[in-house]
Amino acid sequence: MKKFKSLCTIALTTVLALGVVACGTDNPSGNTGSEAGKKKIVMGTSADYPPYEYHDTSKGGEVVGFDVDIAKSIADQLGYTLEVKDMDFNGLIPALQAGTVDFVMAGMTPTEERKQSVDFSDIYFEAKNTIVAKKGSKLATPESLSGKKVAVQLGSIQESAAKDMPGLNIVPLNKTGEIIQEIKAGRVDAAIIEDTVAKGFIEANKDLEFNMIPKTEEAGSAIAFPKNSDKTADFNKALKAMKDSGQIESMVKNWFEAK
Ligand code: ARG
Repeated sequence: MKKFKSLCTIALTTVLALGVVACGTDNPSGNTGSEAGKKKIVMGTSADYPPYEYHDTSKGGEVVGFDVDIAKSIADQLGYTLEVKDMDFNGLIPALQAGTVDFVMAGMTPTEERKQSVDFSDIYFEAKNTIVAKKGSKLATPESLSGKKVAVQLGSIQESAAKDMPGLNIVPLNKTGEIIQEIKAGRVDAAIIEDTVAKGFIEANKDLEFNMIPKTEEAGSAIAFPKNSDKTADFNKALKAMKDSGQIESMVKNWFEAK
């Protein structure tokens, strides 16, 4: 876990500083990539979400993580070179609709509401929501959050979950790193964050704790595409090959499990 812990610390300290790293063109798959003959494919993400995706300062701020590894493998299988475009989570679906990215991987849950505007691949990882707060704050259940300031990522399913809990004073923020800083500074009382991501941030911030929210719906992740994209079927095939060969499982071990 040591590696993951230090990575989280790095991610935390850099998320705010780096902001948006735009490295693409407005024509996602139009030009050929650096490897001769291969077409470029552009992935949109929100790199504030270790271990799914975050900026690795030891690699010059490069976006790395579980999602990036899966995307690289799929791009490889399908003969593309991968380019990663970082933006706010809330801007990802608009970017798909505007055609500035070819697909999105951002630990994104395929909700019915999102399915109105984009298509999704099969689910590749399951997660659940937790309440993150200062240690000893006794904010462990949705009921205990009534009347409290609760931060969530803007446009996330955690924001919708917060809206379903009575009496919350919801504070929507763009970046997960910001949410953590706001709890530490006491400007919000708690946050709703998914389990695997919360776990990493808590290991890097010993003044915080997280508690699973009982009886919440699973919040799995899937890859998003523009509506009627011809890429969805190919990506599903590639994902299945990775599941069958045990590649996904070893990536899960590498990014999510204690070392
Ligand atoms: N799974 C949640 C959702 O789909 C949160 C994802 C946030 N992802 C990120 N890269 N910040 O709304």
